[in-house]
Amino acid sequence: MAAVTLSEVRKAYGNVAVIHGIDLAVNSGEFLVLVGPSGCGKSTLLRMIAGLEEITDGTIAIGDRIVNDLPASQRNLSMVFQSYALYPHMSVRKNLAFGLVNLRMPRDEIDRRVAEAARILRIEELLERKPRQLSGGQKQRVAIGRAIVREPQLFLFDEPLSNLDAELRVQMRVELASLYNRLGTTMIYVTHDQVEAMTMATRIVVLNKGRIEQVGTPYELYNAPANLFVATFIGSPKMNVLAGTAAGGRAEIAGLGMLDLPGGISADGQISIGVRPEQVVIGAGDLTVSGTITLVEYLGSEVFLYVRLNSGDTLLVQAPGQSQYKIHDSITLGINSKEAHYFNGMGLRLG
Ligand SMILES: Nc1ncnc2c1ncn2[C@@H]1O[C@H](COP(=O)(O)OP(=O)(O)O)[C@@H](O)[C@H]1O
Ligand SMILES: [Mg+2]
Repeated sequence: MAAVTLSEVRKAYGNVAVIHGIDLAVNSGEFLVLVGPSGCGKSTLLRMIAGLEEITDGTIAIGDRIVNDLPASQRNLSMVFQSYALYPHMSVRKNLAFGLVNLRMPRDEIDRRVAEAARILRIEELLERKPRQLSGGQKQRVAIGRAIVREPQLFLFDEPLSNLDAELRVQMRVELASLYNRLGTTMIYVTHDQVEAMTMATRIVVLNKGRIEQVGTPYELYNAPANLFVATFIGSPKMNVLAGTAAGGRAEIAGLGMLDLPGGISADGQISIGVRPEQVVIGAGDLTVSGTITLVEYLGSEVFLYVRLNSGDTLLVQAPGQSQYKIHDSITLGINSKEAHYFNGMGLRLG
């Protein structure tokens, strides 16, 4: 198990900078997820840790060793990619053993490691099959198995579940989380999918345009997002955001009314008020508004109501699955000041 430390890490392709100075300490034995929109630099960062991409500036250490100039093959890590790229003409067993054979490892040690990986991933009965005889999920398990047999001190994953269908993705998510719980090896996992990040990570790093927006546990990111970017990126469906103007401990929310700001929130001028769909009350609140339902999404356990307010804003509201709201219904909604999130004119969290 290894800790990974990034200091002022930068990357430029030609004169285009894509990573702008990342400082990050990954603890030994943690499952760290790097999440952010497509193109924000996740793969670039992971590939620099792996040694597949040169570092333009800064240092990367694995354990207490700076690895900037260490080739990928000597970093004692395994990486799993989105495309599993198994050797089609080799059996699963041979695919698993291949890297170790290349390392000239003794035969009985290879057999032990392949058997162990197959047991952990529950693919023992697939060992004699060829890749074309496997489902997508089984292929991805073999790809993970190839990483496991090397018994690395660090696992790197780059969107390993993105090619799988929705059901399989959920299943593999659970398997990866339990794999982590069994191995306890440090893992750095890249995804654009905030649900994957929330469900698997011990800590999440939210990346945006080559910069870190926030680092925290899933709980911290959901309940205390540091800024509007994180607030609206984490959580599905998204947090509602209303524009307001603060003065004298109150906020005027354009077209909707006044909300007393809770103690500890001191603001002047432009602010944003964030309310998650499950925090909007049906009925009266500290601020009570009314509107018309424009869309109903029924999920079974809950219903999402899209409510167009008289101000022109749309609020997304989570209601119990049993509620019987229909499109075009009028509805009264409440926002309670203590449950809302507040951001200043720069989009930074207040309080
Ligand atoms: N080899 C490359 N040459 C030039 N630009 C690149 C190269 N690889 C990635 N980029 C750019 O770097 C940025 C980050 O890419 P990437 O790390 O792949 O993002 P992500 O994995 O978050 O989707 C993007 O703007 C991408 O176009
Ligand atoms: Mg990528």
